[in-house]
Parts: sequence; structure tokens; C-alpha cells
Amino acid sequence: MKTSVVPKVDARRLLERLAALADIGAIPGGGCSRLALTTEDGLGRDLVVTWMRDLGLRIDVDGIGNVVGTWPADAFEPAVLMGSHIDTVRTGGRYDGNLGVLAGLAVIEAVITAGVATDRPLAVGFFTDEEGSRFAPDMLGSLVYVGGMSVEDALDVRDADGCRVGDELERIGYRGPAPSPGPVPHAFIELHIEQGPVLENDDVTIGAVTGVQGISWTEITVEGQSNHAGTTPMHLRHDAAYVAATITTFVRDLTWTVGHGQVGTVGRLDLHPDLVNVVPGRAVLTVDLRNTDADRLRLAENRLESFCAELARKEGVTITTRALARFAPVQFDRSVVDLVQDVAVEHDLTVARLASGAGHDAQMFARVAPSGMIFVPSHRGISHNPAEHTEPADIEAGATVLLHVVLRLASDAASSQERVA
Ligand code: GLV
Ligand code: MN
Ligand code: MN
Repeated sequence: MKTSVVPKVDARRLLERLAALADIGAIPGGGCSRLALTTEDGLGRDLVVTWMRDLGLRIDVDGIGNVVGTWPADAFEPAVLMGSHIDTVRTGGRYDGNLGVLAGLAVIEAVITAGVATDRPLAVGFFTDEEGSRFAPDMLGSLVYVGGMSVEDALDVRDADGCRVGDELERIGYRGPAPSPGPVPHAFIELHIEQGPVLENDDVTIGAVTGVQGISWTEITVEGQSNHAGTTPMHLRHDAAYVAATITTFVRDLTWTVGHGQVGTVGRLDLHPDLVNVVPGRAVLTVDLRNTDADRLRLAENRLESFCAELARKEGVTITTRALARFAPVQFDRSVVDLVQDVAVEHDLTVARLASGAGHDAQMFARVAPSGMIFVPSHRGISHNPAEHTEPADIEAGATVLLHVVLRLASDAASSQERVA
């Protein structure tokens, strides 16, 4: 780093931008609804791109709609890439993803304002459809960026209503010319809210994230027999709702028997024909299983599969499954995790190492470059909920750690010790 001035993040502007972005797709309770590739997602993208342009970044948009802004604009060497996502779940908060993107912007702005020339370019990106709640799998954009899926296959993914990623991307104007896989960064670093209760409970400000647990999403379709609710004797029913409910309780029990932090969720359940006086003939439900241990996760998947086969036989229904997403547990680069921890300590911030329960774009970048994450506390551990909240002081602390981690990563001199102001 060539300067005597130490850059500083403008926390007030970061909070103002978080609020302005949250106004797009705002929902009651302070949250956001910007499902991937909806009109609201498009408007959110336009706003962030405007901010990138105002800072003088070069903006590259690839064929799946990932947007990366680079400083200096004429630099093409491997950059220190920051970023996350700005799509949300339908009932989302304002910090999930958005913080990592806008903090990345704030870091680059701080560097520009201080007149610092870093040895490596800096970049900030937002990656398409991280949430996966409209188009599975999750982390779709970053998966394509790192070459884990072809653009063509990703463009053909459809949502539950049959809308195609490619058509929605064209509609909002974000099908760009930049190539996929994208340029491999020098390193990738993502600031994110924890989305869980650990940091707040332990009164710790910064999480040095060691990795991300494995994720397995399955859509299960149960085909039974739709029939009259009053006239069909109980022993003659092939009730899809009953089967779906039985799978739901099994998933919960499974988490205890598999152990090792296994979690399991049935987050979607559609019944057909969905009427008070009709035995449901069809149910579609989703199962989300996660574990940091690859073998336990596989065990949970196998047990679910055997249970469904046995249940289908017993209830006289057919059960079919479709894999929506499957990602193995990821360990972040040890040197990046250590760097996050060191920088936090240098800034007199409390820090703890922890694994992420949520999926993140950084887990995709870990396939191609040294990658890591910084967590800040989530109030009451609530996320994917409009009530999601992180204290402004924690946001500032996280952005400050991000800035100084990035300055180190962007410096040629391994021993370069830029001083804390
Ligand atoms: C993404 O937010 C996920 O972990 O489901
Ligand atoms: Mn997120
Ligand atoms: Mn999320």
C-alpha cells in the first residue's frame, strides 16, 4: 500500500445506502422482498450499479447477471474481490447479503478517498440468486462464476411457476457479455451478518468464519388419491397430506438421531387440491438438510430416502424426489481466517472462530481462490425475517475489519503491516 493516509470506512454513508436499498421491495416490519430476477431485484441492481458508476469503477456483467465493479477501472490483474448478494428471500431482512456488497463498496470508496494505490486491484460484486428460494440451487450466480455450472444450464433453470432464469434475466436487463467462468480473483472476502445467535450470546463482535456446512435440498412429491373427506373410510385413504406431515416429523426426529449439529427443515409444503373437504391427492414439500460433517449429512440423506420408500409402500402412495441443491461442507483458507482474526484483534475487537450455518457466495469462491468471511452479530439470531437486525456499531466494526483485511490481501509485501490509525 503506497500512502501515509490510512483509509477509513464512512459508516454513515454505508448505513444510508443500506436503508436506500432496503426501500426497494420494502415489506412491513423493516424487511425486504427482492426475490432473484424479479422487477424489485432489477431495481436494486440498478441502484447499486449507479453507486458503482459514481465511484468510477469498471462494471462487468456476465451471462448469468453477476455484476462486478473494479478499481482502478483499467486494471485487469487478479483483484481482491469482495461481495455477496442483493437478492432476498420473499420475507427477508435488509442486511443478509446487502451488507457484504455495500460494505465492499464502502471499502473501495475509502481507498479512493484516501488516495491509496494498492498493489492489486480491488473489486466488489453481487452474485445472482444467492438465496435459491426462487431458482434452485442457491448460490447459482457464484457457482457459474467459478465454473461449477455452465451458463446455458443456469439460464434454463425454472422457478415453481415455470419462469426461466434466462427470460427473467433478459427482462430485467442483466444478461451481460462478460465471460463465465469469470476471472479468478487473487482472493475473495465476504462480510455478512451471522444469521444465528452465537456472536450475540457470547458478546463477541467479529466472527472469523472457518467454513460453511454442507447443504442438501430435496423436493419431494407425494402422489396419493384425492377423495371425499366425509365418505372415504380412514383405512382406504391414500392421503398425501398425511404422508407429507409424517415426512416433516421424521425430518425433525432425524436431526436428533444423526446428531453432530444436524439441522433439517421442511420449508415448503403445497397441497392439492387444497380444499377443506377433499383428501389431498398430491403434496409437494422441500427438505433442507445441513451438517458440517460430510458423512453425517450423507447419513441423514440416506435415512430420509429409506424412510420415504417404506412410507410410500405403507400408505399406498408414490413418492418421487428431485435434488434441488447439493454442496459439500467447505473449509475456508486458513491464512484468510487467521488474517480476519488478527485484524480484529489489532482493532481491539472481540473475535471468535465459527462455522457458518447459512450458505454463502464465498463457499463457491473457495473452489478457485483463497477465500474467507467476516461475520457480525445478528440480534436474537433472527434472519430470513423482516426483523433481522444488526447494530450500527457492529456494522461499522465489520466494515473496518473488511477494509483492513482487504488492504493486507491487496498488498504485495507479505510482511506489509499497515498500521491501525
Ligand atoms: C441462504 O441464505 C441459505 O443458507 O439458505
Ligand atoms: Mn446471505
Ligand atoms: Mn439468505
